[in-house]
Amino acid sequence: MTISNEDELESLKAIGRIVANTLEAMGAALEPGMTTAELDAIGRRLLEEAGARPAPEQCYDFPGATCISVNEEIAHGIPGARRIEAGDLVNIDVSAQKDGFFADTGASFPVPPVSRAIERLCRDGKRAMWAGIRTVATDRPLGDIGMAIGAFAHRNRYTLIRNLASHGVGRSLHEKPTEIATWPEPGDDRAMTEGLVFTVEPFLSMGGQWAEDGDDDWTLFSEPRAPTVQYEHTVVATRRGPVVVTLPG
Ligand code: CO
Ligand code: CO
Repeated sequence: MTISNEDELESLKAIGRIVANTLEAMGAALEPGMTTAELDAIGRRLLEEAGARPAPEQCYDFPGATCISVNEEIAHGIPGARRIEAGDLVNIDVSAQKDGFFADTGASFPVPPVSRAIERLCRDGKRAMWAGIRTVATDRPLGDIGMAIGAFAHRNRYTLIRNLASHGVGRSLHEKPTEIATWPEPGDDRAMTEGLVFTVEPFLSMGGQWAEDGDDDWTLFSEPRAPTVQYEHTVVATRRGPVVVTLPG
């Protein structure tokens, strides 16, 4: 969507805060021995208490309130009986709707103890996301996001998953502009028009190139298998630069 007045921005910020607070609380609750279904139930309760509705369920009949992907899974993991173990790398993606507005955020959490390489991957996954977000401003090409993230990944010897793109959001979970690359893809000169709402969510990996389907209808795995993280914010393009709406508060 495109934000055209202050009321719309406030509504978007309200659901942005809700998904951010939910993600933060789920990350804090994460501990070895709990199942991903138990973790999802915490997210569902927090969203419901805030008057929000889980977007994956509403938009896609996804079997869960949030997507929880562990280790070899990199996205769209289904909450279930899997128990989280020490040393796991857990991605939680929270998207929800309130008053007709949608926001989308995600993060990967290392469950201690993890190796230095995984700690570094998590730190750098956030830096890669911010490298993309920093390019956001009215009238800049959407392609600048992937160029900046690509330069960061290359400089730090990581790979990027190249078929999980960022996307417009706001009135639905996924809307125009679709397929916003978080890897270098020369030629995307679609503009970040004033007030445009979209996600920035690179998948930074230690060798993965693509996401591929597994045995169920949802879960995606890195190909080749490699530790992969995703960090995601919903942003608004403005003349003064990015307004990040999915911040806890
Ligand atoms: Co998401
Ligand atoms: Co998203």
